[in-house]
Amino acid sequence: MEIKVLSVVCLCITSCVKGDLFTKATRSKALEAEKDVRNSVYDFIIVGGGTAGCVLANRLSANPEWKVLVLEAGEEENIDYDIPGIPTKDLRPILWNYRTERNGFSCLSRPGGSCEVRTGKVLGGSSVVNDMKYTRGSRKDYDAWHSNGEIGSLEWKFENLVEHFKHSEDNGDYDILMNSFYHSRGGEMHVQRFKYMDRHMEQFLGAFAEMGFRSIDINTNAPEAAVNNQFVISNNTRLSTNTAFLKPVRHRKNLVVKTGATVTKLIIDHQEKAVDGVLYEIEKGKEQLAYAKKDTILTAGAINNVRLLHLSGIGPKEELSKHNISVFLDLPVGSSYQDQVTIGGLAFSIGDVAIDENQIIEDFKTWFQNRGGPLASKGINQISAFIQLFENKNGPNVELALEGNYIRSDKFMLTNVSVHTAEESSLPLPYYNLVNINPVLLKPKSKGKVTLNKRNPKYGRPVIQANLLKETEDLDALVDSVDIALQLLNTKELKKAEIKIAPLDLFPCDRLQNRDQWNCIARHYTKALGNPIGTCRMGGNKTNSVVNYDLKVHGIERLRIIDASIMPTHVRGNIFAPTVMIAEKGSKIMNKDWKENKGNFL
Ligand SMILES: Cc1cc2nc3c(=O)[nH]c(=O)nc-3n(C[C@H](O)[C@H](O)[C@H](O)COP(=O)(O)OP(=O)(O)OC[C@H]3O[C@@H](n4cnc5c(N)ncnc54)[C@H](O)[C@@H]3O)c2cc1C
Ligand SMILES: *[C@@H]1O[C@H](CO)[C@@H](O)[C@H](O)[C@H]1NC(C)=O
Ligand SMILES: *[C@@H]1O[C@H](CO)[C@@H](O)[C@H](O)[C@H]1NC(C)=O
Ligand SMILES: *[C@@H]1O[C@H](CO)[C@@H](O)[C@H](O)[C@H]1NC(C)=O
Ligand SMILES: *[C@@H]1O[C@H](CO)[C@@H](O)[C@H](O)[C@H]1NC(C)=O
Repeated sequence: MEIKVLSVVCLCITSCVKGDLFTKATRSKALEAEKDVRNSVYDFIIVGGGTAGCVLANRLSANPEWKVLVLEAGEEENIDYDIPGIPTKDLRPILWNYRTERNGFSCLSRPGGSCEVRTGKVLGGSSVVNDMKYTRGSRKDYDAWHSNGEIGSLEWKFENLVEHFKHSEDNGDYDILMNSFYHSRGGEMHVQRFKYMDRHMEQFLGAFAEMGFRSIDINTNAPEAAVNNQFVISNNTRLSTNTAFLKPVRHRKNLVVKTGATVTKLIIDHQEKAVDGVLYEIEKGKEQLAYAKKDTILTAGAINNVRLLHLSGIGPKEELSKHNISVFLDLPVGSSYQDQVTIGGLAFSIGDVAIDENQIIEDFKTWFQNRGGPLASKGINQISAFIQLFENKNGPNVELALEGNYIRSDKFMLTNVSVHTAEESSLPLPYYNLVNINPVLLKPKSKGKVTLNKRNPKYGRPVIQANLLKETEDLDALVDSVDIALQLLNTKELKKAEIKIAPLDLFPCDRLQNRDQWNCIARHYTKALGNPIGTCRMGGNKTNSVVNYDLKVHGIERLRIIDASIMPTHVRGNIFAPTVMIAEKGSKIMNKDWKENKGNFL
């Protein structure tokens, strides 16, 4: 119903304005009476001021002749999210609060049998709620995006991407910077290790070293490493892409940023097969229009891009027909959803740790005064080991990511604490007596899909069939990596420190043993990492992909997608840095295209 009414309204608005006011406003730039329409005409519209969106806003508005509009559904960023020691679990108010569909084989003991899928709804997007870890993945991952016979795909081989990583990078660790093939200074994105270390962090790094994991820069195509990671921070403060790329250029006269503005539909010119702009709402139900003379760029992330495209008639025919949406382009939008996955249930207790709450208050004061103290750190969450499960694979399969939490000892005395309690940090990150070991599967095989909400396609949560652990290969890899994690307990370092496995209540897996038990735990205490990709993947043709290697949507003009959703497969790391790289590369492609086409695009 809603869709039908809406499309009638849009059709009218679009055709009326298009045939008359719009044409004049864009072509002759005359007539005062058309001021409102003219004010809604831009060169570029960026849909979503998230991780990629903020980078693009900076790069495109650098050309003073280009007028750029950013439409972001969330609000402005707040300083509370900038303190590194604040657990990201406290960020729910600025999340979209999506969940996976229940499926009977993963997330079984999570509320409703479904996993939380976190993604940011705020200016800066997921870069405001993420863990800020700076990882690029391996050469092999990018090289695999190449497909034979597709010349454009050569552009995406790793050797051609390094410069785009380096363009925005400002690396502050000299030992890492020394490798100038991979790293550089002077970009907007300051990258550095936290200086703060405690003795448990040293112990775990020592234990990994005993097991043969060297401490080297994982971003140099190292197959394995145990690292005190680098983060995207400046002066021990979160550096979202909003802070790094957008805030410094907000004064530009050719840049307009609207927050609280949710884009609901693309305006499509059916004859010309081109996108003219978007419909958006600041107040629910009140549509406003904005036009883009050059490109409309989707940067709403791997889940929300799908909703917008499907509502606009771009998606798989059989999905759209379920909602009576007339199909403009039959493309596999929403299929091939992939997220990295990990599990709860493996935790080590590190003995008595005295916590003085007054000290924590002092530490907050210290952070606000001079950005120092323990809160200028993520505690043991800074440490992880990238491991290769099989030899000669040229890259890690799993990241053992450490995660601190503080459990009051009386909780342990009464009964074993639940996996949930073990995971949900009660104090800021640097204060912990429990270390969760999360084995993160970096390149999962399982794929799912995103579709529209059945009852309320326009405003309802998209349906995320994540299919986590659907492929047994994924489950096996996680369970194999638990075996490796357990070997930590046999190291001299952890024995000397009397670090032991923490008794957790693993119901309903408590009666099982060994691999059976871990298979059960993985299926029950699954966790989605919130690194979704693949729904608008890049490729050579419209049966296997949504955008081409210039990030243009197949079969329509003036529509691009430039964010994590275009990644065909995961890289062996998290995807913050790769998403920024994609935005850098995307802006280069657009600069080239629109400078060559200057003046003759209409
Ligand atoms: C909890 C968490 C921790 C993470 N930790 C790390 C990490 O340590 N390292 C790492 O590399 N990666 C990490 N990631 C992943 C990484 O941060 C994200 O995958 C990446 O930032 C996604 O960027 P994006 O531009 O594709 O989307 P986003 O940054 O999510 O941007 C999408 C933006 O579009 C807006 N939007 C959506 N729909 C609309 C609409 N209809 N109209 C207007 N605006 C809209 C959203 O509000 C949002 O601002 C983490 C992710 C999460 C959730
Ligand atoms: C689609 O249209 C058919 C026929 O008009 C109608 O029966 C059905 O309820 C509609 N479905 C939706 C989801 O609107
Ligand atoms: C870091 O931030 C603090 C607090 O705002 C400030 O006093 C200090 O000068 C900053 N340091 C640097 C190097 O910018
Ligand atoms: C607590 O966990 C330990 C180890 O997992 C187990 O041996 C013990 O039976 C559990 N105790 C309770 C009360 O559940
Ligand atoms: C599309 O690409 C896929 C994978 O590269 C290939 O198998 C398929 O034949 C192509 N289809 C067309 C119509 O070219």
